[in-house]
Amino acid sequence: ASAEIAVVGMAVMGSNLARNLGRHGYRVAVYDHWADRTVAMMEKNGDEGTFVPSGTVEDLARSLERPRRIILLVKAGEVTDQVIDTLLPHLEEGDIVVDGGNSFFEDTRRREAKLRELGFHFVGAGVSGGEVGALEGPSIMPGGSTESYEALGPMLEDISAHVDGEPCCTHIGPDGSGHFVKMVHNGIEYADIQFIGEAYELLSAAGFSHEEAAGVFEEWNTGDLDSYLIEITADVLRQIDAKTGEPLLDVIVDAAGMKGTGTWTVQTALDLATPVNTIAESVFARAVSSHTTLRRSAQRVLTGPGGTLEVEDRAAFVADLRDSLWASKVIAYAQGLDQIRMAGEEYGWDVDMAEVAKIWRAGCIIRAELLNRIRDEYAGGDLETLLEAPSVSDGLARCQDGWRRTIGRAVQAGVPVPGFSAAVAYYDMVRAPRVNAAMTQGLRDYFGAHTYRRTDAEGSFHTLWSGDRSEITVD
Ligand code: 6PG
Repeated sequence: ASAEIAVVGMAVMGSNLARNLGRHGYRVAVYDHWADRTVAMMEKNGDEGTFVPSGTVEDLARSLERPRRIILLVKAGEVTDQVIDTLLPHLEEGDIVVDGGNSFFEDTRRREAKLRELGFHFVGAGVSGGEVGALEGPSIMPGGSTESYEALGPMLEDISAHVDGEPCCTHIGPDGSGHFVKMVHNGIEYADIQFIGEAYELLSAAGFSHEEAAGVFEEWNTGDLDSYLIEITADVLRQIDAKTGEPLLDVIVDAAGMKGTGTWTVQTALDLATPVNTIAESVFARAVSSHTTLRRSAQRVLTGPGGTLEVEDRAAFVADLRDSLWASKVIAYAQGLDQIRMAGEEYGWDVDMAEVAKIWRAGCIIRAELLNRIRDEYAGGDLETLLEAPSVSDGLARCQDGWRRTIGRAVQAGVPVPGFSAAVAYYDMVRAPRVNAAMTQGLRDYFGAHTYRRTDAEGSFHTLWSGDRSEITVD
């Protein structure tokens, strides 16, 4: 046995993670069901470190030190189960299987329970940062037993991204917690992308060229909005299509794809009754964009303003947009973190929110300056919601005029801003002393005798709506 760790799956994420481990001096066994992939990786990058290519699962198992540490980077879903099944006969007690794919956390819970029963450790690890992150330092969110983290954590921390010497990898908690946190990361990613899309559309509606809009994003990236997604937005805006000589954005079909993690975030939030409306609107916005036949039918008959904005003071308009982006982004983070906290209570995970914010500060797709503040706020004390942290509530107070003006303008002009609108609606709901739910309760009691509670007495009550309309107490 000569390898310290193995990577199974030599597609781009797997081979890049193996190369990252190799570059950090680890001896890495590499394997893929399709042997030609392993051969290709070795030919191209084999000299970057010490790699032990394996042609069979037996070879792979033989080449590894105990306890075996095997990281899978294979397609999420059935393939993951199949690969685990092929490994099982070759494992020994205490061996650790890591799933680095975007697996659904319930699948991870199931797999962890199964492998634990057999005497193995199963670690569902969220890995974010795409291909470049895998190679140069991703953000890693491992769940699983404390014991498995002791054997694996130092290596993962070593190859992860770092901020001021601190790794972007931490033990999240038991079983599916790591994949849960990665799922919510992706939900926030959807919201971030949606907000950027809305800002871009509003800039275009106000007559900003792609080059001018790129300049705005570039400028934003030097302040509070400093983040990877804002940074790459300027690049995407500036890209010129080689074929037509037009901006690339103008030739990309306006139908957004999605692989499912955003949808899972929302489905899970519904189960937990956690209001992640910004993320939900972002998923639905992608769904609407891709619903081409519906859009075509609607375009034929629905009238309204033409989606252009008259802007006199460009600087003030851009400042309002900046505030809308910042405020909406904060709301999306608050909602996502809230979902993680609620899941932690439901599944008994005890997730440290400051640590989550800490490991999202670099390496991952949603890395942003804002995460430093979020980390500090959670580290400073228990928060029911991020929004109650003084620096956050002050920031929202400062941004809200611009945020509201932006949404008002957009609605007037017929520019859809579902993300910004959802965010401000959430803000107004959670800060309101009373929301309209009393009407909901009144109506439910009227048509279905569903009862209501009173502000001035304990218990449940029902009004005899079809009788004399007196009130009765219900046990
Ligand atoms: C990451 C990304 C990564 C992937 C998403 C894209 O953290 O590195 O989130 O996981 O790019 O799956 O998701 P959609 O295809 O659903 O947009």
